[in-house]
Amino acid sequence: MTNGKPPILVFGATGRQGGAVARALRQALWPVRALVRDTAAPRSIALRDAGVDLVQGSFEDIEAIRAAMKDVHGVFSVLPGNLAQEEEVRAGRSIADIAVERGVRHFVYSSGASAGDKPTGVARFDAKPRIEAHLRNLPITATIVRPMIFMEMLVRRGFGLESGRYTFFLRPDQAMQLIAVDDIGKFVTAIFADMSRFGGETLKIAGDTVTGSDLEAILTQAAGRPIAYARFSEEALMANPDLGHMAASLETGPLADHVDLNVMRQINPEILSFRSWLAADGHKAFEEALGHEAA
Ligand SMILES: NC(=O)c1ccc[n+]([C@@H]2O[C@H](COP(=O)([O-])OP(=O)(O)OC[C@H]3O[C@@H](n4cnc5c(N)ncnc54)[C@H](OP(=O)(O)O)[C@@H]3O)[C@@H](O)[C@H]2O)c1
Repeated sequence: MTNGKPPILVFGATGRQGGAVARALRQALWPVRALVRDTAAPRSIALRDAGVDLVQGSFEDIEAIRAAMKDVHGVFSVLPGNLAQEEEVRAGRSIADIAVERGVRHFVYSSGASAGDKPTGVARFDAKPRIEAHLRNLPITATIVRPMIFMEMLVRRGFGLESGRYTFFLRPDQAMQLIAVDDIGKFVTAIFADMSRFGGETLKIAGDTVTGSDLEAILTQAAGRPIAYARFSEEALMANPDLGHMAASLETGPLADHVDLNVMRQINPEILSFRSWLAADGHKAFEEALGHEAA
């Protein structure tokens, strides 16, 4: 069932963001086409089983992208986080250029909330503003989303959960905004549903705001035992430029500039709080980070 809507091409559909976008679009009865590198991979097969039309190809394969964009209404573009800056910029610009050539009506690009107006010196952050700038100069209706920090990032191993601690960038009274990856799919679907409202917009998207103290309370409740929160030491932040940059961005940079969650709720009424995400989609990863076998 597609309600006669025209298709949307989703990049990265076997990954986190693209997967969430493909799921949410299917739920809203959009026909979804996905460009995947390996049509026989289990995640590709799961997409096909969910009603997604698969096109084999990669970011480097311009002819495959051209073919995949035939007759689509929209394109969701997201690039993997492991590309070199020039490679990411080249792929991001080329996908947008092909969308113009193919007459795509609405192009949605997932950038990053760390993307500021000035270069940061961190390659994975600096490719995104360059792609954004290119997109704004193209004759196409585009929406740029800048997701805040993924909730999924917080429950990886390495922050101390297995030993009853949690170490992160925030001071106890300092706040940051988070988003569940699944909600990225719901925001993007709401954006495709209303091109006249969102076309030409750049919007940060988030689902919750938490402080360091909130993290302690939420993680303690979810674990059912005390989790003591502490900020990374100044020495640790100074010794690692990536960590230091993240801390600075949360303090005075783009990540310190928060969105109004009431506005977010108007766009996506189902936004998940960190607490509710931990009890649902995040449960398995959280249990693993605690060192438990997932129930
Ligand atoms: N805000 C945050 O906290 C946060 C956290 C993490 C990442 N990010 C950002 O999110 C973006 C990555 O999105 P994600 O986390 O959804 O990615 P992801 O889960 O790593 O998935 C990457 C996707 O890209 C596909 N892909 C990789 N190389 C490709 C190629 N050459 N041609 C075509 N497809 C290719 C992969 O397909 P295969 O299945 O074939 O590998 C997969 O579908 C990055 O921009 C990163 O900076 C933000």
